[in-house]
Amino acid sequence: MKQKPGWVLPDLKEAQKRTTNTIDRIDTFTIPEVARMMGRGKTYFISTYGCQANERDSETLAGILDELGFTPNETAEGSDVIIINTCAIRQNAEEKVLGEIGNFKRLYRENKDLIIGVCGCMAQEEGLVETLLTKYPQVRLLFGTHNIQELPSMLYSCMFEGKKVVKIYSKEGEVYENLPVHRFGTFKAWVNIMYGCDKFCTYCIVPYTRGKQRSRKMSEILKEVQELKDEGYKEITLLGQNVNAYGKDMDNEQDFATLLEEVAKIGIPRVRFTTSHPWDFSEQMIDVIAKYDNIMPFIHLPLQSGDDDVLKLMGRRYTKESYLALYDKIINTIPNVAVSTDIIVGFPNETDEQFEHTLDVVRYCKYDNAFTFIFSARPGTPASRMHDSIDMETKRKRLARLNKTWNDLALEKNKAYIGRTVTVLVDGPSKKDENVYSGYTDTQKLVNFKGENLQAGDFVEVKILDAKTFSLDGVAV
Ligand code: 5AD
Ligand code: SF4
Repeated sequence: MKQKPGWVLPDLKEAQKRTTNTIDRIDTFTIPEVARMMGRGKTYFISTYGCQANERDSETLAGILDELGFTPNETAEGSDVIIINTCAIRQNAEEKVLGEIGNFKRLYRENKDLIIGVCGCMAQEEGLVETLLTKYPQVRLLFGTHNIQELPSMLYSCMFEGKKVVKIYSKEGEVYENLPVHRFGTFKAWVNIMYGCDKFCTYCIVPYTRGKQRSRKMSEILKEVQELKDEGYKEITLLGQNVNAYGKDMDNEQDFATLLEEVAKIGIPRVRFTTSHPWDFSEQMIDVIAKYDNIMPFIHLPLQSGDDDVLKLMGRRYTKESYLALYDKIINTIPNVAVSTDIIVGFPNETDEQFEHTLDVVRYCKYDNAFTFIFSARPGTPASRMHDSIDMETKRKRLARLNKTWNDLALEKNKAYIGRTVTVLVDGPSKKDENVYSGYTDTQKLVNFKGENLQAGDFVEVKILDAKTFSLDGVAV
């Protein structure tokens, strides 16, 4: 690809590196003098794809844009700056993003001053950046997951110096503590506890796009949670690619069980966390979750596969047996707990028998929710280099069977709620009917219910009258 002066292009080999270098923890973010108020009278729109880490990053992007004097816009149409925060986890996620960027071409044709920026995980990929630079001239700003904090100067170069800015670092990363945040939720908030991932599961691109595991200091996390409590937030979710490895990258090793307990003690009504890896899930964690009423009895426990040989090829570090032992411990210790999972079908050369082993685990665990995917080869990952003899048709059939299996079991589980009264944190009224509200139970079940004069952020008791696969129906009591 043609390199231009000042551009920094992604480098997969660099992104793969892990050293024992200490991570810089930086709290010196300031807006450069020239960029101050550069957004006065201008608007922005952020489109976010992918996981909660991206949602939280978009809140930082919005926070920075607010500080530059921009105002948020409800739509891309009519905005002066559009930023697309992208996801690279599977190819279909990328295709969706490219489709949207393609649609924005029209807006660029109508307004040549429009700045379209692309950031997030796709920007960390060598091949994709090449595609964006060659086929999407409307993209004038490309930056990665490691330099969000440089948005003011990058945007300034685009807007006032007419430059196309491409700045994507492929380093291990650092931790920024004082970036501004514009929270999109008024009563639910995301709290990063760590960045990056060092697990290198063989199918996964995240360790390359988000760098080395970097935990935030416990004192900083607790300070943020306390602030959220003081501002009246009702629910927080602690975020990390692998929260139970929290602290393992720090000198004075801290652990997630201790952090979770300290967070719970602050007293926000609902504390959640995601995602946990079955490998680092400690008994202390289970005990802490069981001990505190405000830690929600809901655990996302990605299985990926129920076959030991496939798990080994995936680099998952657990077996079906050890996974099930952990599952048993969780459901036997935490009252009323719900468990969800992630599963990949069609990993290279997965046999019918191996797929059956996955179904066996699904039947045993009767997940409350499952996110199921067909394996997608991600550039640079070991699994993408494996020869694969399984055709797509077989993979699609497996996915359909897997979905039918977990859906039927989830419906059975939901039916057990009928007649029970549960506490729901209200999200708001439905768009169609102002007397129908929705919200979530402590076990993260979506509830649609009849009620009156309720506000988003209220807790309400709801009697469950009916159950579907993905939601419950009820009435406020
Ligand atoms: N193909 C399919 N699914 C994947 N996931 C991660 N990488 C891939 C891939 N290459 C799934 C895993 C993970 C979830 C976030 O996305 O199940 O837990
Ligand atoms: Fe990807 Fe595995 Fe890290 Fe999860 S734990 S982000 S699946 S490498």
